Amino acid sequence: MSYRQARHDVPLIYDELSNNIQINIKLDELLPASMIRKDFPNIPRLCERDMVKHFTTLSQMNFGVDTGFYPLGSCTMKYNPKINDELASLPASAMIHPHQPDSQVQGTLQIMYELQEMLASITGMKAVSLQPAAGAHGEFTGMLIARAYHESRGEKRDQVVLPDTSHGTNPASAAMAGYDILTIPSKNGKVDLDALAAAVSDRTAAFMLTNPNTLGIFESDAQEIARIVHEAGGLLYYDGANMNAIMGKTSPGKMGFDIVHLNLHKTFSTPHGGGGPGAGPVGVVEKLTEFLPIPLAAKKGDKYYMNYDIPKSIGKVHGFHGNWGVLIRAYTYILSQGGDGLTEVTERAVLNSNYLRLRVEKFMEVPYPGLRKHEFVASGAALKEKGIRTLDIAKRLIDHGFHPPTIYFPLIVEEAIMIEPTETESKATLDAFADALEIVINEPPEVLHDAPTTASVRRLNETDAAKNLILSYRDYVEFKKK
Ligand SMILES: Cc1ncc(COP(=O)(O)O)c(C=O)c1O
Repeated sequence: MSYRQARHDVPLIYDELSNNIQINIKLDELLPASMIRKDFPNIPRLCERDMVKHFTTLSQMNFGVDTGFYPLGSCTMKYNPKINDELASLPASAMIHPHQPDSQVQGTLQIMYELQEMLASITGMKAVSLQPAAGAHGEFTGMLIARAYHESRGEKRDQVVLPDTSHGTNPASAAMAGYDILTIPSKNGKVDLDALAAAVSDRTAAFMLTNPNTLGIFESDAQEIARIVHEAGGLLYYDGANMNAIMGKTSPGKMGFDIVHLNLHKTFSTPHGGGGPGAGPVGVVEKLTEFLPIPLAAKKGDKYYMNYDIPKSIGKVHGFHGNWGVLIRAYTYILSQGGDGLTEVTERAVLNSNYLRLRVEKFMEVPYPGLRKHEFVASGAALKEKGIRTLDIAKRLIDHGFHPPTIYFPLIVEEAIMIEPTETESKATLDAFADALEIVINEPPEVLHDAPTTASVRRLNETDAAKNLILSYRDYVEFKKK
Protein backbone atom coordinates (compact mmCIF):
# COMPACT_ATOMS: atom_id res chain seq x y z
CA MET A 1 0.00 0.00 0.00
CA SER A 2 1.45 3.38 -0.93
CA TYR A 3 1.18 6.04 1.72
CA ARG A 4 0.53 9.73 1.38
CA GLN A 5 -0.57 11.92 4.23
CA ALA A 6 -3.09 14.71 3.67
CA ARG A 7 -1.53 18.16 3.36
CA HIS A 8 -3.88 21.10 3.90
CA ASP A 9 -3.02 24.71 4.20
CA VAL A 10 -4.97 25.51 7.37
CA PRO A 11 -4.73 28.94 8.96
CA LEU A 12 -4.50 29.13 12.72
CA ILE A 13 -7.93 29.15 14.30
CA TYR A 14 -7.41 32.73 15.52
CA ASP A 15 -6.85 33.83 11.93
CA GLU A 16 -10.02 32.17 10.62
CA LEU A 17 -13.34 33.96 10.68
CA SER A 18 -16.72 32.50 9.84
CA ASN A 19 -18.56 34.46 7.16
CA ASN A 20 -21.94 33.75 8.61
CA ILE A 21 -21.22 34.45 12.28
CA GLN A 22 -23.49 37.08 13.72
CA ILE A 23 -23.48 38.44 17.22
CA ASN A 24 -26.79 40.18 17.67
CA ILE A 25 -27.09 40.25 21.41
CA LYS A 26 -27.60 43.79 22.65
CA LEU A 27 -25.48 43.67 25.79
CA ASP A 28 -26.19 47.27 26.77
CA GLU A 29 -29.79 46.25 27.44
CA LEU A 30 -28.64 43.46 29.73
CA LEU A 31 -25.55 44.74 31.55
CA PRO A 32 -24.45 48.01 33.20
CA ALA A 33 -22.14 50.02 30.91
CA SER A 34 -19.16 49.53 33.25
CA MET A 35 -19.29 45.76 32.71
CA ILE A 36 -19.34 45.83 28.91
CA ARG A 37 -16.06 45.14 27.10
CA LYS A 38 -14.64 47.80 24.87
CA ASP A 39 -13.02 45.26 22.52
CA PHE A 40 -14.01 41.85 21.34
CA PRO A 41 -12.12 39.20 23.43
CA ASN A 42 -9.23 37.44 21.72
CA ILE A 43 -11.04 34.16 21.07
CA PRO A 44 -11.67 32.37 17.76
CA ARG A 45 -14.72 33.76 15.95
CA LEU A 46 -16.00 30.60 14.34
CA CYS A 47 -19.45 29.07 14.28
CA GLU A 48 -19.79 25.39 15.14
CA ARG A 49 -19.81 24.25 11.52
CA ASP A 50 -16.54 26.00 10.70
CA MET A 51 -14.98 24.90 13.96
CA VAL A 52 -15.70 21.23 13.15
CA LYS A 53 -14.30 21.74 9.65
CA HIS A 54 -11.15 23.29 11.08
CA PHE A 55 -10.36 20.48 13.53
CA THR A 56 -11.43 17.63 11.24
CA THR A 57 -9.16 18.98 8.50
CA LEU A 58 -6.27 19.19 10.95
CA SER A 59 -6.92 15.63 12.13
CA GLN A 60 -6.47 14.39 8.55
CA MET A 61 -2.87 15.58 8.69
CA ASN A 62 -2.22 13.50 11.77
CA PHE A 63 -1.00 9.97 12.37
CA GLY A 64 -3.03 8.04 14.93
CA VAL A 65 -3.40 4.60 16.46
CA ASP A 66 -6.73 4.12 14.69
CA THR A 67 -5.20 4.56 11.26
CA GLY A 68 -1.72 3.11 11.44
CA PHE A 69 0.93 1.00 13.15
CA TYR A 70 2.52 2.99 15.95
CA PRO A 71 5.38 0.89 17.40
CA LEU A 72 6.65 3.60 19.75
CA GLY A 73 8.79 1.62 22.20
CA SER A 74 8.07 2.26 25.89
CA CYS A 75 4.80 4.07 25.09
CA THR A 76 2.31 1.25 24.32
CA MET A 77 0.48 3.02 21.52
CA LYS A 78 -2.09 0.29 21.00
CA TYR A 79 -5.62 0.27 19.68
CA ASN A 80 -8.04 1.44 22.40
CA PRO A 81 -11.52 -0.14 22.29
CA LYS A 82 -14.24 2.44 21.65
CA ILE A 83 -16.53 1.07 24.35
CA ASN A 84 -14.17 2.70 26.88
CA ASP A 85 -14.92 6.11 25.41
CA GLU A 86 -18.64 5.39 25.23
CA LEU A 87 -18.87 4.65 28.94
CA ALA A 88 -16.59 7.53 29.88
CA SER A 89 -18.82 9.97 28.01
CA LEU A 90 -22.12 8.89 29.58
CA PRO A 91 -23.56 11.95 31.36
CA ALA A 92 -23.53 10.09 34.70
CA SER A 93 -19.77 9.80 34.30
CA ALA A 94 -18.81 12.91 32.38
CA MET A 95 -21.03 15.46 34.16
CA ILE A 96 -20.31 14.68 37.82
CA HIS A 97 -18.43 17.14 39.98
CA PRO A 98 -15.76 16.13 42.50
CA HIS A 99 -17.40 18.33 45.15
CA GLN A 100 -20.68 16.39 45.03
CA PRO A 101 -21.48 14.68 48.35
CA ASP A 102 -20.76 10.94 48.57
CA SER A 103 -24.50 10.21 48.74
CA GLN A 104 -25.00 11.59 45.19
CA VAL A 105 -22.13 9.68 43.56
CA GLN A 106 -22.41 6.17 44.98
CA GLY A 107 -21.92 4.58 41.53
CA THR A 108 -18.74 6.55 40.87
CA LEU A 109 -17.35 5.70 44.29
CA GLN A 110 -18.21 2.05 43.71
CA ILE A 111 -16.26 2.09 40.43
CA MET A 112 -13.26 3.73 42.12
CA TYR A 113 -13.40 1.27 45.00
CA GLU A 114 -13.67 -1.74 42.68
CA LEU A 115 -10.90 -0.41 40.44
CA GLN A 116 -8.62 -0.05 43.48
CA GLU A 117 -9.40 -3.68 44.38
CA MET A 118 -8.87 -4.96 40.84
CA LEU A 119 -5.53 -3.17 40.47
CA ALA A 120 -4.45 -4.46 43.90
CA SER A 121 -5.22 -7.97 42.71
CA ILE A 122 -3.38 -7.52 39.37
CA THR A 123 -0.27 -6.13 41.10
CA GLY A 124 -0.36 -8.40 44.16
CA MET A 125 -0.50 -5.38 46.49
CA LYS A 126 -2.67 -4.75 49.55
CA ALA A 127 -4.08 -1.34 48.60
CA VAL A 128 -3.98 1.13 45.71
CA SER A 129 -4.34 4.92 45.36
CA LEU A 130 -5.84 6.14 42.09
CA GLN A 131 -4.67 9.75 42.51
CA PRO A 132 -1.37 10.04 40.59
CA ALA A 133 -1.95 11.53 37.14
CA ALA A 134 0.89 9.78 35.24
CA GLY A 135 3.55 7.13 35.55
CA ALA A 136 6.21 9.58 36.69
CA HIS A 137 3.75 11.07 39.18
CA GLY A 138 3.18 7.54 40.55
CA GLU A 139 6.94 7.11 40.96
CA PHE A 140 7.18 10.42 42.82
CA THR A 141 4.27 9.40 45.05
CA GLY A 142 5.97 6.04 45.70
CA MET A 143 9.17 7.81 46.71
CA LEU A 144 7.25 10.05 49.14
CA ILE A 145 5.72 6.91 50.65
CA ALA A 146 9.21 5.36 51.01
CA ARG A 147 10.41 8.51 52.75
CA ALA A 148 7.41 8.55 55.13
CA TYR A 149 7.99 4.88 55.97
CA HIS A 150 11.68 5.28 56.81
CA GLU A 151 11.03 8.46 58.78
CA SER A 152 8.30 6.73 60.81
CA ARG A 153 10.98 4.24 61.88
CA GLY A 154 13.41 7.01 62.78
CA GLU A 155 15.73 6.09 59.90
CA LYS A 156 17.48 8.63 57.71
CA ARG A 157 18.04 6.97 54.36
CA ASP A 158 19.00 9.32 51.55
CA GLN A 159 19.85 7.19 48.55
CA VAL A 160 17.87 5.47 45.79
CA VAL A 161 19.66 2.77 43.80
CA LEU A 162 18.66 1.80 40.26
CA PRO A 163 20.13 0.01 37.24
CA ASP A 164 21.22 1.70 34.00
CA THR A 165 18.31 -0.05 32.24
CA SER A 166 15.67 1.80 34.25
CA HIS A 167 13.21 4.13 32.57
CA GLY A 168 14.46 7.74 32.57
CA THR A 169 11.66 8.96 34.80
CA ASN A 170 12.79 6.66 37.67
CA PRO A 171 15.95 8.59 38.66
CA ALA A 172 14.19 11.90 37.90
CA SER A 173 11.28 11.10 40.25
CA ALA A 174 13.58 9.91 43.04
CA ALA A 175 15.74 13.03 42.68
CA MET A 176 12.61 15.23 42.81
CA ALA A 177 11.69 13.52 46.07
CA GLY A 178 15.08 14.63 47.42
CA TYR A 179 17.07 11.41 47.08
CA ASP A 180 20.65 10.95 45.89
CA ILE A 181 20.77 8.59 42.91
CA LEU A 182 23.17 5.67 42.64
CA THR A 183 23.09 3.98 39.21
CA ILE A 184 24.53 0.49 38.87
CA PRO A 185 25.65 -1.05 35.54
CA SER A 186 23.85 -4.08 34.11
CA LYS A 187 25.40 -7.39 33.12
CA ASN A 188 24.12 -9.09 29.94
CA GLY A 189 21.12 -6.76 29.91
CA LYS A 190 20.00 -7.54 33.47
CA VAL A 191 20.71 -6.26 36.97
CA ASP A 192 24.20 -7.28 38.06
CA LEU A 193 23.51 -8.90 41.46
CA ASP A 194 27.09 -8.43 42.69
CA ALA A 195 27.00 -4.74 41.78
CA LEU A 196 23.64 -4.45 43.55
CA ALA A 197 24.92 -6.17 46.72
CA ALA A 198 27.90 -3.81 46.74
CA ALA A 199 25.71 -0.74 46.19
CA VAL A 200 23.06 -1.17 48.89
CA SER A 201 23.72 0.04 52.42
CA ASP A 202 22.07 1.68 55.39
CA ARG A 203 21.73 4.75 53.13
CA THR A 204 19.45 2.86 50.70
CA ALA A 205 15.86 4.07 50.91
CA ALA A 206 14.72 2.08 47.88
CA PHE A 207 15.77 0.17 44.80
CA MET A 208 13.72 1.05 41.70
CA LEU A 209 13.35 -1.58 39.04
CA THR A 210 11.70 -1.16 35.65
CA ASN A 211 10.59 -4.69 34.82
CA PRO A 212 10.68 -5.69 32.00
CA ASN A 213 13.60 -3.28 31.74
CA THR A 214 14.06 -0.80 28.91
CA LEU A 215 15.68 -3.50 26.76
CA GLY A 216 12.40 -5.45 26.98
CA ILE A 217 14.20 -8.10 29.05
CA PHE A 218 12.46 -9.59 32.07
CA GLU A 219 14.51 -9.35 35.27
CA SER A 220 14.18 -12.99 36.19
CA ASP A 221 16.30 -12.50 39.35
CA ALA A 222 13.64 -10.18 40.79
CA GLN A 223 13.17 -12.28 43.94
CA GLU A 224 16.92 -12.37 44.62
CA ILE A 225 17.05 -8.61 44.01
CA ALA A 226 14.25 -8.19 46.57
CA ARG A 227 16.13 -10.31 49.10
CA ILE A 228 19.35 -8.29 48.73
CA VAL A 229 17.59 -4.92 49.07
CA HIS A 230 15.36 -5.99 51.97
CA GLU A 231 18.36 -7.34 53.87
CA ALA A 232 19.89 -3.87 53.61
CA GLY A 233 16.65 -2.37 55.01
CA GLY A 234 15.57 -0.74 51.72
CA LEU A 235 12.20 -0.87 50.01
CA LEU A 236 11.57 -2.36 46.57
CA TYR A 237 9.93 -0.14 43.97
CA TYR A 238 8.50 -1.75 40.84
CA ASP A 239 7.96 0.36 37.73
CA GLY A 240 4.93 -1.49 36.37
CA ALA A 241 4.24 0.90 33.50
CA ASN A 242 4.54 -2.02 31.11
CA MET A 243 2.14 -4.36 32.83
CA ASN A 244 1.04 -5.78 29.46
CA ALA A 245 4.28 -7.77 29.63
CA ILE A 246 3.40 -9.76 32.76
CA MET A 247 -0.32 -9.41 33.58
CA GLY A 248 -1.90 -12.65 34.69
CA LYS A 249 1.48 -14.43 34.62
CA THR A 250 3.13 -12.97 37.71
CA SER A 251 2.98 -9.77 39.76
CA PRO A 252 5.25 -7.35 41.63
CA GLY A 253 3.76 -8.72 44.87
CA LYS A 254 4.83 -12.26 44.00
CA MET A 255 8.32 -10.97 43.22
CA GLY A 256 8.60 -9.47 46.73
CA PHE A 257 8.18 -5.79 45.82
CA ASP A 258 6.70 -3.19 48.19
CA ILE A 259 5.52 -0.34 45.96
CA VAL A 260 4.39 -0.36 42.34
CA HIS A 261 2.88 2.06 39.88
CA LEU A 262 0.90 1.26 36.74
CA ASN A 263 0.35 3.34 33.62
CA LEU A 264 -3.38 2.96 33.05
CA HIS A 265 -3.15 5.08 29.89
CA LYS A 266 -0.83 2.45 28.39
CA THR A 267 -1.74 -1.08 29.50
CA PHE A 268 -5.36 -0.30 30.31
CA SER A 269 -6.07 1.52 27.06
CA THR A 270 -6.70 5.23 27.29
CA PRO A 271 -5.78 7.15 24.14
CA HIS A 272 -2.76 9.21 25.18
CA GLY A 273 0.14 11.21 23.84
CA GLY A 274 1.41 14.76 23.73
CA GLY A 275 1.63 14.82 27.50
CA GLY A 276 -1.71 13.43 28.56
CA PRO A 277 -4.13 12.35 29.78
CA GLY A 278 -2.82 9.68 32.11
CA ALA A 279 -3.21 7.85 35.40
CA GLY A 280 -0.41 6.26 37.39
CA PRO A 281 -2.05 4.49 40.36
CA VAL A 282 0.27 3.37 43.14
CA GLY A 283 -0.09 0.09 45.00
CA VAL A 284 1.66 -0.83 48.24
CA VAL A 285 2.08 -3.81 50.57
CA GLU A 286 0.29 -3.89 53.92
CA LYS A 287 2.97 -2.16 56.00
CA LEU A 288 2.84 0.91 53.71
CA THR A 289 -0.93 1.34 53.40
CA GLU A 290 -1.02 3.90 56.24
CA PHE A 291 1.10 6.28 54.11
CA LEU A 292 -1.03 6.22 50.95
CA PRO A 293 -2.40 9.57 49.70
CA ILE A 294 -5.76 10.69 51.10
CA PRO A 295 -8.55 10.09 50.35
CA LEU A 296 -9.06 6.45 49.34
CA ALA A 297 -12.39 5.15 48.05
CA ALA A 298 -13.77 2.94 50.84
CA LYS A 299 -16.83 0.88 51.68
CA LYS A 300 -18.80 0.53 54.93
CA GLY A 301 -21.76 -1.88 54.84
CA ASP A 302 -23.27 -1.25 51.43
CA LYS A 303 -22.27 2.43 51.28
CA TYR A 304 -19.20 3.84 49.51
CA TYR A 305 -17.34 6.92 50.75
CA MET A 306 -14.07 8.84 50.48
CA ASN A 307 -11.91 7.99 53.46
CA TYR A 308 -9.83 10.91 54.72
CA ASP A 309 -9.06 9.23 58.03
CA ILE A 310 -5.51 8.05 57.29
CA PRO A 311 -3.45 9.98 59.88
CA LYS A 312 0.04 9.06 58.57
CA SER A 313 -0.89 9.68 54.90
CA ILE A 314 1.59 11.63 52.78
CA GLY A 315 -1.40 13.87 51.96
CA LYS A 316 -2.94 14.63 48.62
CA VAL A 317 -0.98 14.34 45.37
CA HIS A 318 -3.79 15.46 43.04
CA GLY A 319 -6.28 18.32 43.23
CA PHE A 320 -9.21 15.91 43.43
CA HIS A 321 -9.35 12.12 43.18
CA GLY A 322 -7.32 11.39 40.04
CA ASN A 323 -8.02 11.55 36.31
CA TRP A 324 -11.51 10.13 36.36
CA GLY A 325 -11.80 9.86 32.56
CA VAL A 326 -8.80 7.54 32.48
CA LEU A 327 -9.95 5.57 35.51
CA ILE A 328 -13.35 4.73 34.06
CA ARG A 329 -11.76 3.67 30.76
CA ALA A 330 -9.40 1.33 32.63
CA TYR A 331 -12.31 -0.07 34.65
CA THR A 332 -14.27 -0.71 31.44
CA TYR A 333 -11.25 -2.29 29.77
CA ILE A 334 -10.57 -4.65 32.69
CA LEU A 335 -14.20 -5.78 32.92
CA SER A 336 -14.55 -6.23 29.17
CA GLN A 337 -11.36 -8.33 28.97
CA GLY A 338 -11.93 -10.33 32.15
CA GLY A 339 -9.09 -12.10 33.96
CA ASP A 340 -8.41 -14.56 31.13
CA GLY A 341 -8.56 -11.73 28.62
CA LEU A 342 -5.86 -9.77 30.47
CA THR A 343 -3.62 -12.84 30.50
CA GLU A 344 -4.19 -13.20 26.76
CA VAL A 345 -3.26 -9.53 26.28
CA THR A 346 0.12 -10.32 27.85
CA GLU A 347 0.61 -13.46 25.80
CA ARG A 348 -0.12 -11.65 22.54
CA ALA A 349 2.03 -8.61 23.42
CA VAL A 350 5.00 -10.88 24.15
CA LEU A 351 4.39 -13.11 21.13
CA ASN A 352 4.16 -10.12 18.77
CA SER A 353 7.32 -8.58 20.15
CA ASN A 354 9.34 -11.78 19.80
CA TYR A 355 7.98 -12.55 16.34
CA LEU A 356 8.98 -9.09 15.12
CA ARG A 357 12.35 -9.30 16.88
CA LEU A 358 13.17 -12.55 15.09
CA ARG A 359 12.25 -10.99 11.74
CA VAL A 360 14.28 -7.82 12.41
CA GLU A 361 17.31 -9.76 13.70
CA LYS A 362 17.79 -11.10 10.18
CA PHE A 363 18.88 -7.69 8.90
CA MET A 364 19.67 -5.50 11.96
CA GLU A 365 21.67 -6.05 15.09
CA VAL A 366 19.54 -6.71 18.20
CA PRO A 367 22.00 -6.57 21.11
CA TYR A 368 21.65 -8.99 24.05
CA PRO A 369 20.49 -12.56 23.55
CA GLY A 370 17.26 -14.29 24.51
CA LEU A 371 13.54 -13.71 24.67
CA ARG A 372 11.99 -10.32 25.17
CA LYS A 373 8.72 -9.33 26.79
CA HIS A 374 6.56 -6.61 25.18
CA GLU A 375 9.31 -4.76 23.27
CA PHE A 376 12.86 -5.01 21.98
CA VAL A 377 15.71 -2.71 21.03
CA ALA A 378 17.64 -2.95 17.75
CA SER A 379 20.77 -0.97 16.91
CA GLY A 380 21.50 1.02 13.76
CA ALA A 381 25.19 1.43 14.70
CA ALA A 382 26.41 -0.73 11.79
CA LEU A 383 24.73 1.63 9.28
CA LYS A 384 26.68 4.67 10.44
CA GLU A 385 29.54 3.87 8.04
CA LYS A 386 27.07 4.17 5.13
CA GLY A 387 26.12 7.60 6.42
CA ILE A 388 22.77 6.42 7.79
CA ARG A 389 21.66 7.32 11.29
CA THR A 390 18.77 5.84 13.26
CA LEU A 391 16.99 9.19 12.94
CA ASP A 392 17.02 8.77 9.13
CA ILE A 393 15.52 5.29 9.38
CA ALA A 394 12.77 6.57 11.67
CA LYS A 395 11.90 9.44 9.33
CA ARG A 396 11.89 7.24 6.24
CA LEU A 397 9.51 4.76 7.88
CA ILE A 398 6.92 7.56 7.83
CA ASP A 399 7.03 7.52 4.01
CA HIS A 400 6.28 3.81 4.17
CA GLY A 401 3.19 4.47 6.29
CA PHE A 402 4.53 3.62 9.75
CA HIS A 403 4.91 5.80 12.79
CA PRO A 404 8.60 5.84 13.80
CA PRO A 405 9.62 3.68 16.75
CA THR A 406 11.31 5.33 19.74
CA ILE A 407 14.92 6.20 18.91
CA TYR A 408 18.11 6.89 20.88
CA PHE A 409 16.60 5.28 23.98
CA PRO A 410 17.68 3.36 26.02
CA LEU A 411 21.05 5.08 26.21
CA ILE A 412 22.98 1.83 26.71
CA VAL A 413 22.35 0.78 23.08
CA GLU A 414 24.19 2.76 20.37
CA GLU A 415 21.85 4.19 17.70
CA ALA A 416 18.95 2.52 19.51
CA ILE A 417 15.61 1.87 17.83
CA MET A 418 13.06 0.63 20.34
CA ILE A 419 10.11 -1.27 18.92
CA GLU A 420 6.90 -2.09 20.79
CA PRO A 421 4.36 -3.74 18.47
CA THR A 422 1.69 -4.24 21.21
CA GLU A 423 -0.88 -7.01 21.36
CA THR A 424 -3.46 -5.37 19.13
CA GLU A 425 -1.59 -5.75 15.83
CA SER A 426 -1.97 -8.61 13.36
CA LYS A 427 0.78 -10.79 11.88
CA ALA A 428 0.15 -9.11 8.51
CA THR A 429 0.93 -5.68 10.03
CA LEU A 430 4.08 -6.96 11.74
CA ASP A 431 5.27 -8.52 8.46
CA ALA A 432 4.54 -5.33 6.53
CA PHE A 433 6.54 -3.31 9.07
CA ALA A 434 9.50 -5.73 9.00
CA ASP A 435 9.46 -5.64 5.18
CA ALA A 436 9.42 -1.85 5.18
CA LEU A 437 12.27 -1.62 7.71
CA GLU A 438 14.40 -3.97 5.60
CA ILE A 439 13.70 -1.91 2.47
CA VAL A 440 14.52 1.34 4.30
CA ILE A 441 17.92 0.29 5.57
CA ASN A 442 18.88 -0.77 2.05
CA GLU A 443 17.75 2.44 0.38
CA PRO A 444 20.38 5.01 -0.73
CA PRO A 445 21.41 7.29 2.16
CA GLU A 446 20.30 10.41 0.20
CA VAL A 447 16.75 9.09 0.09
CA LEU A 448 16.76 8.58 3.84
CA HIS A 449 18.30 11.97 4.53
CA ASP A 450 15.48 13.64 2.59
CA ALA A 451 12.68 11.79 4.41
CA PRO A 452 9.87 12.21 5.14
CA THR A 453 8.61 13.29 1.73
CA THR A 454 5.00 12.07 1.79
CA ALA A 455 4.00 13.33 5.23
CA SER A 456 2.11 16.52 6.01
CA VAL A 457 5.34 18.11 7.20
CA ARG A 458 8.92 17.56 6.03
CA ARG A 459 11.81 16.90 8.40
CA LEU A 460 11.89 19.34 11.28
CA ASN A 461 14.94 20.86 12.87
CA GLU A 462 14.52 18.86 16.07
CA THR A 463 16.98 20.92 18.13
CA ASP A 464 15.25 24.15 17.16
CA ALA A 465 11.82 22.61 17.80
CA ALA A 466 12.90 21.44 21.26
CA LYS A 467 14.71 24.62 22.26
CA ASN A 468 12.41 27.29 20.81
CA LEU A 469 9.02 26.12 21.88
CA ILE A 470 5.97 27.66 20.21
CA LEU A 471 3.19 26.14 22.23
CA SER A 472 0.56 28.84 22.28
CA TYR A 473 -0.93 31.47 20.01
CA ARG A 474 0.83 34.13 22.08
CA ASP A 475 4.24 32.40 21.43
CA TYR A 476 3.33 32.22 17.75
CA VAL A 477 2.52 35.93 17.51
CA GLU A 478 5.85 36.75 19.21
CA PHE A 479 7.68 34.39 16.86
CA LYS A 480 6.07 36.03 13.80
CA LYS A 481 7.23 39.47 15.00
CA LYS A 482 10.91 38.36 14.93
C1 LIG B 1 8.68 2.00 32.01
C2 LIG B 1 8.08 3.37 32.14
N1 LIG B 1 8.11 3.99 33.32
C3 LIG B 1 7.56 5.22 33.49
C4 LIG B 1 6.99 5.88 32.44
C5 LIG B 1 6.47 7.28 32.66
O1 LIG B 1 5.10 7.36 32.48
P1 LIG B 1 4.38 8.77 32.18
O2 LIG B 1 4.81 9.19 30.82
O3 LIG B 1 2.92 8.48 32.27
O4 LIG B 1 4.83 9.73 33.23
C6 LIG B 1 6.93 5.27 31.18
C7 LIG B 1 6.30 5.97 30.04
O5 LIG B 1 5.91 5.44 29.07
C8 LIG B 1 7.50 3.98 31.02
O6 LIG B 1 7.50 3.35 29.85
